[in-house]
Amino acid sequence: MRRRKQTIVEADVTGIAFGGRGIARLEGMAVFVEQAVPGDRGRIRITRRRRHYAEARLVELLGASPDRVAPPCRYSGFCGGCTWQFLRYDRQLAYKREHVRECLERIGGIGGAAVHPTLPADPVFAYRNKMEFTCAERRWLLPEEMGRDEIEPGLALGLHVPGTFNKVIDIAQCLLQPPLGNRILEEIRSGIRESGRPVYGLRTHAGFWRFAMLRSSCADGRWMVNMVTASEDADALDALALRLRAKFPEISSIVNNVTARKAGVAVGESERVVWGDGFIRERIGRFEFQISANSFFQTNTRGAARLYQTVLDCAGLKGTEVVLDLYSGTGTIPIFISNSCREVLGVEIVPAAVADAERNCRLNGVANCRFIRGDILEGLARADAHPDVVIIDPPRVGMDKEVVGRVLAMAPARLVYVSCNPATLARDLALLGQRYEVAEVQPIDMFPHTFHVESVARLERRALP
Ligand SMILES: C[S@@+](CC[C@H](N)C(=O)[O-])C[C@H]1O[C@@H](n2cnc3c(N)ncnc32)[C@H](O)[C@@H]1O
Repeated sequence: MRRRKQTIVEADVTGIAFGGRGIARLEGMAVFVEQAVPGDRGRIRITRRRRHYAEARLVELLGASPDRVAPPCRYSGFCGGCTWQFLRYDRQLAYKREHVRECLERIGGIGGAAVHPTLPADPVFAYRNKMEFTCAERRWLLPEEMGRDEIEPGLALGLHVPGTFNKVIDIAQCLLQPPLGNRILEEIRSGIRESGRPVYGLRTHAGFWRFAMLRSSCADGRWMVNMVTASEDADALDALALRLRAKFPEISSIVNNVTARKAGVAVGESERVVWGDGFIRERIGRFEFQISANSFFQTNTRGAARLYQTVLDCAGLKGTEVVLDLYSGTGTIPIFISNSCREVLGVEIVPAAVADAERNCRLNGVANCRFIRGDILEGLARADAHPDVVIIDPPRVGMDKEVVGRVLAMAPARLVYVSCNPATLARDLALLGQRYEVAEVQPIDMFPHTFHVESVARLERRALP
């Protein structure tokens, strides 16, 4: 490979890397190719070189992999919402499983663990119950839109080009949300245009409209609109609420989060319920959950049900056990398993999540779940529990080493580890390996057309020699 910038070469894609990029090999060096899959042959442009690897873009497909399908979304390949639409779904599932297996082997040194085939999602589109769309002063034009006079370059309400903070594609139809969401989004776009208030500039940090967050319930088909703005302006919000209510009886809540922070995060320092309840209701299994604009809730409701059922199956509860749920969030796992054990103790750092968990217990008449609010280490010290089973569902960074040490010292008979990051899963399972055998790992697809994969691992305590 010649070491000149922007070299274009022909290459065969033979593997796939985490992050969804294809891998080609040129003179022994791995080249990570955007939007390419194993079986592709193409002309690729080298965009970045490092000592041991290079990055590239596919310029021209000379021979398409049999794993390719025509993506149904017109933004596919440009939008960061889902980057794997062009890959056959059964191959997505196979690659996800392979990725989990490889991480366990390479990072954790855990060879031969039983990694089951990935549990598929159903449906594979319109599965998200929450979407956040960014407002921008100028839309990022797709190649097909360039130079077309009828396309106004102004206001965008949509999703980012991957890896960018200021390139926003104006999204007319997102296939990840139920179709009604796209009609609501269109009405919000019109409302913003006609409001006379400026859109927030992602570089200038001046302006009013920042994000539109849509939440929907699989249980009753109700919707929540959360408009995130840079300041308070009741007239503007009331006017938008009026037009949304007039058109969409399915909307049961309209909320305004206000944030003066420059960071592109759709959570406000203050919140006002503009109209309606200020929450929606969702159902997982036979349990109901109240979800406010800023509550954490799994974004794929049906996927969450499959995930929690897998946790329950792995926990192997008989009804008499004391269960400790570390990183318990809004209490969805404790509530889901509450009928199957004697008691659940959850530990969670975010006070609002604990408040949601306690409220959701009351809502469901669940009396055997308690929650400790605080950092996991402090919570473990306060818990003074002798659990039979410990469920661990940490954030992407995984468990702190000290937390691993505490769990090892507690030595419950069984651990169930829920992970959204196979790399930290592998690292933590290796640490827990001092006393626990990985009995099985179940990858679950919660996010079709993305490379993300959830896993549930069952660990059994080894008998002491
Ligand atoms: C992946 S979520 C788990 C959510 C929950 N199990 C569920 O399914 O809804 C991880 C949770 O860990 C919490 N968390 C992160 N760091 C923590 C810490 N140091 N101590 C306690 N909780 C923490 C986060 O607030 C978040 O709710």
